[in-house]
Formats: sequence, C-alpha cells, structure tokens
Amino acid sequence: MAASLTQKKELTVKLIIIGNSGVGKSSIMNRYVNHRFSKLYRATVGTDFLSKTETIDGASVTLQIWDTAGTERFQSLGTPLYRGTHCCLLVFDVTSCVSFSALEQWRKEFLIQGEPKDPDSFPFIVVGNKTDLPDREVSSRRAKQWCEQFGAEYFEGSAKDDIDVEKTFLRAAHMGLQQY
Ligand code: GTP
Repeated sequence: MAASLTQKKELTVKLIIIGNSGVGKSSIMNRYVNHRFSKLYRATVGTDFLSKTETIDGASVTLQIWDTAGTERFQSLGTPLYRGTHCCLLVFDVTSCVSFSALEQWRKEFLIQGEPKDPDSFPFIVVGNKTDLPDREVSSRRAKQWCEQFGAEYFEGSAKDDIDVEKTFLRAAHMGLQQY
C-alpha cells in the first residue's frame, strides 16, 4: 500500500457481492464477518450490509460489505448501491452452470450501473462457492479461463466448510485499496 494511505487513520473499502439467488452470497459474508454458517435458506430482500475492520499493512481498514438479493432484476438494484464500490465479488455456485453463465450479465450490469472510473481495470473477484458438494458442474479451469478475459482474480471455496473465505475477502480488501 502507498505510504500516504497508511498514514490515514481510517480507510473504508466498499465491497459488493452479486450473483444469482442461492449461490451463497449471504453465507460467505456471514462466514467471514460472524464466523457462522446456516443450512437454512433465507432469501435476502433488497440489500444488507455488514462491516468488519482489518489491519492491512499497518492501517485500519473497514470493509463495508454489501450483500444483494439475487432474485432482484439486475436493473432494480440500481446506481446508488453500485456507486463508489472499490471491488466487486461475482459469486457463483460450482454445482450450477446456470449461476456461472449468469456472471457475464451481472458483471455488465455492475459496469453500467456503477460507472467505475476505469471500467477496463476495475477489480473483480470471481468466487466459486460450495466446493464441499460432490456434484460439481463448473471446473476451476473453466472459471479461470473466463476470468482471464477481463483480468479478474478467481477464488473458490466453501462458506459451509470455511474454505478460503477469509482469504478471498482479504484479497478483495487489498484490491479495493488500490482504487484509492
Ligand atoms: P439470495 O439471498 O437469494 O440472493 O441467496 P444467496 O446467494 O445469499 O444464498 P445464501 O447465502 O442464502 O445460501 C443459499 C443456500 O445455500 C443456503 O441454504 C445455504 O445454507 C447454502 N449454502 C451457502 N453456501 C454454501 C456452501 O458453501 N456449501 C453448501 N453445501 N451450501 C451452501
């Protein structure tokens, strides 16, 4: 991180989590922030957000994590929610090809609504969730190949078994800080 940033006392990084309904967006956020997982499915209505503060390179960084409802039509989430985002997490379920294919549309919609300063270099993290399940439909290779097209980073894991969730959010925080 740049020296000028570490001198700032409080930094806030806005992260947004988007993707189809049921892929585990709320679950990865809850696993990361509250260290909890629930088998019960409760659809997110509208949006929800949680904060967590981390020390990164000696600076106190508050991650403001926005969890969105996958059932919403893309457009209805709207510009105010997307604006000012520092890093966007595109989540799919590795046992669902449909949820993976939908990421193209989610990404486009984010770029239209969020209007990031430089769309070509805006940081996206693609997250393949539910790797604990046996009936996988999307390979790591396929997901990585898709990410290469626009320079996204790929992480996969499981909110249920707590596989690589923290690593994913910390990477998102680092990438978000680079947007300052
Ligand atoms: P919406 O709010 O409708 O957009 O859904 P969401 O993407 O937030 O999904 P949510 O976190 O509510 O999870 C949906 C279902 O998948 C729940 O029953 C979770 O328990 C389950 N789930 C989430 N993550 C995992 C995981 O890593 N492994 C397994 N096996 N199940 C998971």
